[in-house]
Amino acid sequence: QGERSLVLIKPDAVRRGLVGEIISRFERKGLGIDALELRTIDGEFADQHYAEHVEKPFYPPLKDFMTGGPLVALVVSGDQVIEVVRGLVGATDGRRAVAGTIRGDLSLSNRENLVHASDSVDSAKREIGLWFPELG
Ligand code: CMP
Repeated sequence: QGERSLVLIKPDAVRRGLVGEIISRFERKGLGIDALELRTIDGEFADQHYAEHVEKPFYPPLKDFMTGGPLVALVVSGDQVIEVVRGLVGATDGRRAVAGTIRGDLSLSNRENLVHASDSVDSAKREIGLWFPELG
């Protein structure tokens, strides 16, 4: 059954009514959903999630964006799921992401890019521990 990845369907996607569309893509690919919750996070939690970015110039507006409305957090699972999900999601900048990917089809922004997905096995472990500590 393989790996797990933490995925966030960001506040722009919730606002735009794209939650079903995005979850559908993961389901149709054949991935499992091990946890799923609508949540609104505060600044302190955003700082923990984005620990590696808090000092970057793009972080303050990113923090405002991520705390500005509800998002959907989920844990997806499957064979090589981290790489598979990153392929489905596409490049960070929606303007450059390839058509056929979630961002390539649905986002025109480098910040409001609809989805976050863990980028490695280590970050997936850390992020799942933060968002869904009960999953162990
Ligand atoms: P995410 O996968 O959640 O990881 C970090 C986030 O920071 C990224 O998606 C974007 O939302 C945002 N981000 C990364 N680089 C930039 C940038 N240059 N300008 C604005 N936002 C960015």
